[in-house]
Amino acid sequence: MEPKGKIGVLISGRGSNMEALAVACKQGQIPARIAIVVSNVPAAAGLQRAVRLHLETAVVDHHESRTREEHDRKVAAVLDAHGCELICLAGYMRLLSAWFVQHYPNRIINIHPALLPSFPGLDAQKQAIEHGAKVSGVTVHFVDEQLDHGPIILQASVPVSDDDTEDTLAGRILAEEHRLYAEAVRLFFLERLKIEGRRVRILDAPGPA
Ligand code: GRF
Repeated sequence: MEPKGKIGVLISGRGSNMEALAVACKQGQIPARIAIVVSNVPAAAGLQRAVRLHLETAVVDHHESRTREEHDRKVAAVLDAHGCELICLAGYMRLLSAWFVQHYPNRIINIHPALLPSFPGLDAQKQAIEHGAKVSGVTVHFVDEQLDHGPIILQASVPVSDDDTEDTLAGRILAEEHRLYAEAVRLFFLERLKIEGRRVRILDAPGPA
């Protein structure tokens, strides 16, 4: 039987997190499926990846809208037409309008390659190295109206070594990203994430009936 839960994934680039989610859905780890992959960048490599994974894709080019909200309304129209219950940002390089965030209350999740609230924004791995951090990592969080700010669902740390470059650190973090994003989305669809203010409580799995 096909799982009921539907995910919309927003990408702008290579789409490796999108693929990790797709694989986790296919393997039954996540009780849901990716209903649509939307890119704001027509040439995003992740679109080809999605096609290879037999996922439906759409392009909503932000250059064709005059305002952020106009663009976001077009994206939401696609997501809603596909019945998406959860929106996963996976390397989506756009700030979201307040309208979009409010349209999907507590239903947008993002992944960020650092331990928030450290190193928000662009080039998080470079920021960690330049700051001399000894540890960095990955954060999966609900999205609110501020960038890289909403309630944290899961985090995992990775060591930063003296001879790390931005690329070596990014690679180490990426392996954790793929694992952690799938786990967070799994918990969402199992209804085990309870938001209490800024905190997300992970509810225990129900015991045997
Ligand atoms: C990842 O590092 C993610 O944490 C960040 O952008 C990158 C996207 O990579 N938000 P990919 O497109 O999923 O391969």
